[in-house]
Amino acid sequence: MTDPRTLAAPALVDDLVAVAEEVARRAGTLAHEGRPADLGVAATKTSAVDVVTAMDLASEELLRSRLAELRPDDGVLGEEGGHRAGTSGVTWVVDPIDGTVNYLYGIPAWSVSVAAVVDDDAAARGTAPSPDTWTVLAGCVHAPAEGRTYTAARGRGAHADGRPLRLAPPPPLELSLVGTGFGYLAARRRAQARVLTELLPRVRDIRRAGSAALDLCGVADGRLDLYYERGLQPWDMAAASLVVLEAGGAVRGLRGAAAGPAMTVAGAPGGVDALVALLEELGADVDDAT
Ligand code: IPD
Repeated sequence: MTDPRTLAAPALVDDLVAVAEEVARRAGTLAHEGRPADLGVAATKTSAVDVVTAMDLASEELLRSRLAELRPDDGVLGEEGGHRAGTSGVTWVVDPIDGTVNYLYGIPAWSVSVAAVVDDDAAARGTAPSPDTWTVLAGCVHAPAEGRTYTAARGRGAHADGRPLRLAPPPPLELSLVGTGFGYLAARRRAQARVLTELLPRVRDIRRAGSAALDLCGVADGRLDLYYERGLQPWDMAAASLVVLEAGGAVRGLRGAAAGPAMTVAGAPGGVDALVALLEELGADVDDAT
């Protein structure tokens, strides 16, 4: 069994965060400097608007090959290449470009997200690590086009470009700037629009920046008071959720559940309580039928 308390030994998490930052920076440089002027859609996934570019694939290939050099016994779970189990107990959860639609359109709000997690429950089931059972040990969210790099190590704090992050006390919900995102399927979007219609009159304003990892880091950095989204994938949230937690924030789901695909809510703890209560009342964790 992998005991996260043993694995979270300071020397190990320091090593893991250094690896996360090194590989995220390499992949970020590749995607930023190598973005072709005529970049197009290489493939689509869950719907016609859920796109993959050649650079998503190249970035993930770089992440996987460099991680194999640095940490050959670890597993990898990546957005484009799926899950490969390792033998060390550590799995790298990677998003080669979070905010692919922004990247496609030349909007700077995209990032490379790299996290090291342990998840014995998933390993025992023979499945990929999952947000409801994993422990995130270290992570880096690198946004080269915005010139921001966030890092976090379990029990060792969170940093933005080397500056320690600490969440401020939350404003009341009606004065909170709230980030969110939308899924790629029409039925999900209809339900998300219905929730937004109810939420917008009750908060300061809403932002939809297009990279869940950067939205979560924005909460840790004070650029958003709160963030919520239904439909996040493990790679969207692994590294950035640790950035929020290590900055003193809370990251959770609705109705007592852990944060995950059904719902992720992040912010200062009291603010999260207020938003969770409202999202529960609005049924924000349910999709429309079609
Ligand atoms: C997407 C972005 C977006 C969020 C979507 C994610 P991708 O990730 O994080 O902000 O709203 O839910 O799927 O597809 O660009 O890696």
